[in-house]
Amino acid sequence: MRYLILFLCVFTACQTPVEPEEPIIPQEEPETTYTATKSLISAAPFRVGVAGNVAGLKEHTETRLIDQEFNSMTAEYEMKQNIMHISKYDYDWVSIDEFANYTRSRGMRVHGHALLWHSAIPSWLENFTGSDEEFSDIMKAYIQGAVSHRPKDVQSWDVVNEAFEDNGDLRNSIFRQKMGDDYIAQCFQWAHEADSSVKLFYNDYGTIWDDRKLTAMLEMLDDFEARGIPIHGVGFQMHITWDWPVIEPIKKAVDAVASRGWLIHFSEVDIRVNEDGGELELNQRLAELQQARMTEIVNLYNTIPEEQQFGITFWGLRDTDSWLIDFWGNVEWPLLFDHSYKHKLMHKGFVEAFE
Ligand code: XIL
Repeated sequence: MRYLILFLCVFTACQTPVEPEEPIIPQEEPETTYTATKSLISAAPFRVGVAGNVAGLKEHTETRLIDQEFNSMTAEYEMKQNIMHISKYDYDWVSIDEFANYTRSRGMRVHGHALLWHSAIPSWLENFTGSDEEFSDIMKAYIQGAVSHRPKDVQSWDVVNEAFEDNGDLRNSIFRQKMGDDYIAQCFQWAHEADSSVKLFYNDYGTIWDDRKLTAMLEMLDDFEARGIPIHGVGFQMHITWDWPVIEPIKKAVDAVASRGWLIHFSEVDIRVNEDGGELELNQRLAELQQARMTEIVNLYNTIPEEQQFGITFWGLRDTDSWLIDFWGNVEWPLLFDHSYKHKLMHKGFVEAFE
């Protein structure tokens, strides 16, 4: 009996009409990269920069791409106070020299970033217990030492980075506590005294999306202008997403600084496409959104009078190098090149702004 049932089952199974097999359509690879025919620097009439580090300058694959695509460099972290300012009157200029040696032989520019930043204070300075006067003396010697450091390859510096809170209040950093509310002006003055040919920048995020912060920065610039404090340019960090902030507030901030005649640096560009961390891989749709956003940003930069275009700098080379991955704690693809140094559509978006 058991065999009969088994036989019937097998028989019935054989009788079940077989679904026609789905034809196998080869899955198309999502297109997130492309074959570039033009480099960024051959497309743009202004300087195009990238943030890097000394180790990267010794990596052949990396430098080949840097040489092709960029003519300006910023140190991602090695030209900050916590690295350079070893003790009261002692400095480490090794990274400046490494960058300078690299860029000099290539006719590139190295932009200094950043003399003062509340997030890069050496711990010995954070625990400083001396007088306010001594604090100022130490800061003056450090700023002037960095600006006048030989060889003089660094012809521009972000003197102060992120001095305002998100709401536009002056950040209550150790610099403000020890040197008073006018410390920013003081630092610019010291830097200028050390070398009057060096272009001095104020650099910040948030001025492109928060009116309070923009207003605070503009008030500072106007005040500097009225008092003859030497400042030459503004850095907009430009850490944005493919759809945020919308272009209007960015344009408003850029126009306001442009109409005052300062140099403008889009100083730390990256474009996030995975804000909520939902994606595990970059897909074509996101890559195209990022491409369009890139074009939009470069189109805006192109409206700035040429003599005020200091350049656009990307905050890293490859997606996997981006600081945002650690900062936000999820995978991101915010830069121009993928992990294998392939040109992403974002690169195409940049080049297309000039077509
Ligand atoms: C970041 C670097 O990317 C990191 O490698 C470093 O550890 C911390 O600083 N705004 C700035 C940059 O002005 O200096 C920051 O760079 C990113 C935010």
